[in-house]
Amino acid sequence: MTHRSLTRIIPSIPVSDGAGVKLRRSLGQSQGLRLDPFLILDEFASDNPDDYIAGFPPHPHRGFETVTYMLAGDFEHEDHLGHKGHLRAGGAQWMTAGRGIIHSEMPLQEAGRLHGFQFWINLPAKEKMKPAAYRDIQPEEIPQLAISGGTVKVVAGRLETADGQHADGPIQGLSTAPLFLDVRLESGARFSQAVENGHSAFLYPYAGSLRVGGSEGQPLPNRQAGVLSAGDCIEVQAGEDGGHFLLLAARPIGEPVVQYGPFVMNTREEIEQALADYRDGTLAA
Ligand code: CO
Repeated sequence: MTHRSLTRIIPSIPVSDGAGVKLRRSLGQSQGLRLDPFLILDEFASDNPDDYIAGFPPHPHRGFETVTYMLAGDFEHEDHLGHKGHLRAGGAQWMTAGRGIIHSEMPLQEAGRLHGFQFWINLPAKEKMKPAAYRDIQPEEIPQLAISGGTVKVVAGRLETADGQHADGPIQGLSTAPLFLDVRLESGARFSQAVENGHSAFLYPYAGSLRVGGSEGQPLPNRQAGVLSAGDCIEVQAGEDGGHFLLLAARPIGEPVVQYGPFVMNTREEIEQALADYRDGTLAA
C-alpha cells in the first residue's frame, strides 16, 4: 500500500459567475490550476439570496461534463431541448454536454441557504462530440454508509471501507472512471479509501479540516483543494472541529486542453468551430 500525500494546495478564491452568483473557485481559477481530467471546482454557500438569486441564465457548453451536487437549497435546470430537472438538497446532476447544450441553472428559492458544488470533468477527444445527456440523481439514489466516526455518501464509483463494507454510487461506467464521495467525519475520526494508482485525486474540505496521511499527516484547511500524489490509498484524519469533505478521483485523459469559457476542446480550431456553431444555432443541433 502506498499512501497518497498532499502535493499541492489550491486555496479557493471568491469569484462571480453566471448573472452574478458568488462562488468560491479552487481548481480552474486559472488554466494552470487543473488536475486532469478535473477542470474546475466551484463551491456556492450563502444564506444571502443576493449572492445567488440571479442564477445562471441560458449559456452553452461543449466538450466536457458538469456535475452539480447540492447540500442545501434547490435549483432548477432547463435546456433548449425542453429537458427540465429539479435539483434538491442531497441530490446531484451529472450532465454530459458532449457536442453541445444550452441550458439555464436557476435557484428555486428566494430566501434561505443555498450550498452546493459544481465541478467540470473533461471528456476524451472521441467523446467530446457525443449527444448531450443528463442524469438527475435524487437524494435517495445516493447510498450512504455509516463508518466508524462518520458517514460517507457515494455519488460515483465504488466505496470500500476499512471495515469491509462497500457501496456503488449511481454513476458508473464512464471512461474517466470517476470516484466521487462526500465524507463527514467527527472530530479526530479516520477514513481510508483505496484509489486506483495512476488516477488523479484531490480532497476538498467544506467544513472543519483534515490531516492527510493520518494524525502525523499534512494539514488541509477547509475551502482548499488538496491535490494528492500517486499511490493506491488515501488516508485522512478529521481535525478538532471534524472534517466534511469531497473526495474526487478519476483516470487522467492525457490530451491537450484548450478552453475558451464554456467550451473545452483539444485544439484552437475546435474552439473556433464551437463558437461558429453557437453563433449559427447549430452548437447543440
Ligand atoms: Co452550465
